[in-house]
Amino acid sequence: MKILVTGGAGYIGSHTVVELQENGYDVVVVDNLSNSNSKSLERVEKITGKKVPFYKADILDREALNEILDKEKVDACIHFAGLKAVGESVQKPWEYYENNIAGTLTLVDVMRQHGVKNIIFSSSATVYGDPQFIPITEECPKGRCTNPYGWTKSMLEEILSDIQKADPEWNVILLRYFNPIGAHKSGTIGENPNGIPNNLMPYVTQVAIGKRDHLTVFGNDYDTPDGTGVRDYIHVVDLAKGHVKALNKIKENVGLKVYNLGTGIGYSVLDIVKNFEEANGVKIPYEIGPRRAGDIATCYSSAEKAKEELGWVAEYGIKEMCADSWNWQKNNPNGYDV
Ligand code: NAD
Ligand code: UFG
Repeated sequence: MKILVTGGAGYIGSHTVVELQENGYDVVVVDNLSNSNSKSLERVEKITGKKVPFYKADILDREALNEILDKEKVDACIHFAGLKAVGESVQKPWEYYENNIAGTLTLVDVMRQHGVKNIIFSSSATVYGDPQFIPITEECPKGRCTNPYGWTKSMLEEILSDIQKADPEWNVILLRYFNPIGAHKSGTIGENPNGIPNNLMPYVTQVAIGKRDHLTVFGNDYDTPDGTGVRDYIHVVDLAKGHVKALNKIKENVGLKVYNLGTGIGYSVLDIVKNFEEANGVKIPYEIGPRRAGDIATCYSSAEKAKEELGWVAEYGIKEMCADSWNWQKNNPNGYDV
């Protein structure tokens, strides 16, 4: 089975390509490298010992996608390509709607014209907004997103669901990721943010390596055990494996399915600092700052549905997540830029 992986040079995509190749799938990667480096794919090739066919192309480019799908007879698509910086999406909403929504519409149209009607979509826990209940099951109603990025995910879920309803030949699996961290055990691929990291773990690893002098904890007055925000951190390799399980499921002609991919466990910001220090023997100086606009107190999943229906459970614990994040950062202080 050959899988088109859009955004396959990125953080989650590159880890998923490893798992796909190690599970006998053929892959074709399409990425415009707007937020990644093709070196990630060279490193994937070193890990798996297999070639990664790569097309530098934009999912908005219909002609390029047509050519790729004419040439490569793919059976399904795992669709990671998208812009993902929450703050930037507030500044550049048009760019986010254009890239993520118009890009996906183009991709899906070219897919169906080539008779490819299986798609696994990277959605996010952000679609739950401020969740109505915790742990969050897939039945939890979607909420109001606080930024255009979140809306692109929420809207794309609706769009893909409507397309599947109108044409039952489609199989659509929406995967709602919680907070991916960690890196491949080899320490050769990992998260490579541009500029100042928005997310907690890359910020912590940059403090650890001395690029930033301290972490600012965004608020300690939330209604959580220690007052800091609680999230469901999941090892990116576990997340990648979830995609392999979803592909196994899509072969059963499932129609439309939605799964949370999380561990079911919540850790606070201070828990992460403590676990990172203990796992790696490195001190993370921090200061308490004000809350970040749009943040919620607590967000963690119920991982039961993915366990029951996909046979998937996250295996890595928080210490390994912290150790693997650090291993990647310390071996690659400048990410893929040497
Ligand atoms: P990433 O930025 O590392 O990967 C996304 C990839 O898509 C990049 O390589 C980028 O160059 C590519 N891309 C963007 N627009 C493109 C376009 N128009 N054409 C072709 N390629 C394009 O991000 P990631 O963390 O690996 O996230 C992968 C997906 O998962 C994204 O859709 C993201 O929104 C979603 N997601 C991520 C998180 C997270 O915390 N990392 C959480 C929930 C959902
Ligand atoms: N945090 C800090 N300091 C920082 C960065 C983050 O205290 O420098 C805190 C946040 O306030 C939050 C927690 O660390 O409590 C996690 O923040 P992240 O920015 O790492 O992650 P979020 O949960 O805010 O959002 C991430 C992605 C979203 C995605 C969501 C899914 O950025 O795109 O996970 O759960 F939708």
